Amino acid sequence: MFSFNNLIFEDEPVDILRKAINGLGIETEELASKCGLKRNELEKVLQGKTDLKNLETVAKFLGLRTEQLKKMITGQLEVPNLPHLKNFWIFTSDFGGMKVNSYLAVDQERRKGIAFDTGADATSLLETLIDENIHLEYLLLTHGHGDHIYEMDRIIEKTGCIAYAPRGEMIKGTRPIEPNQKLTLSGLEVRVHSVPGHSAAHVAYEISGLEAPVLIVGDALFAASMGKANISYLLSLESLHYLLSFSDNTFLAPGHGPMTTVALEKKINPFYNPSWLEYLRNKQR
Ligand SMILES: [Fe+2]
Repeated sequence: MFSFNNLIFEDEPVDILRKAINGLGIETEELASKCGLKRNELEKVLQGKTDLKNLETVAKFLGLRTEQLKKMITGQLEVPNLPHLKNFWIFTSDFGGMKVNSYLAVDQERRKGIAFDTGADATSLLETLIDENIHLEYLLLTHGHGDHIYEMDRIIEKTGCIAYAPRGEMIKGTRPIEPNQKLTLSGLEVRVHSVPGHSAAHVAYEISGLEAPVLIVGDALFAASMGKANISYLLSLESLHYLLSFSDNTFLAPGHGPMTTVALEKKINPFYNPSWLEYLRNKQR
């Protein structure tokens, strides 16, 4: 388990290396030879049992920011505790041994709320709505993976909310939502952004009207990592860099692992590497 400041991160450094290897589609033999390593030396890197020099060589070849990975391994990553945002809740539930997040944003004056993804158990969300006397108006889904929509039917049944899912990942019982669409709920405004790569039509939700700007990013970005590039590695990297083009004070609320900010991710995320992204773009042309 990889943690700092009592925050448990979704990915270990070796997970990050593997995501980059799979994303780039490099065979182990080829990677070892290009990095000037023996097969068993590369295996050690991928098991997290290596010296920093070999790790640095491999990470550099994969276009990852080596300084950040080294800091993760040596426990030198600087990760501050984020302040709690008023009128914003995070719920974490267990989905077959994996932790998954869902969120609630509230217009305090009118006691109305918007939920984002469902997680695997909506009990805490439903209890919060009752305890805080909040009417849930909308449920917005980032993408259609099971761990993010598992409790959708129960939430709709208990609250009567309207559920939206990205067009292209249509889920029975939801209405389609499109990139650039805006949704207003008294003091809160939510804008939809396209961030594909982990899934085909994955979206992020930008919330205005809270203490600070918040982006619900699903699996497009994790603190110090990102979700698996199931559709396209280049698209996943494009989406991650797009999310990190928002203002530095924007809070990022991922589907797994702790919350983070744009400023922090620009500092610590090994996948944030604009010159490497530019190189991959040119290679694809
Ligand atoms: Fe997912």
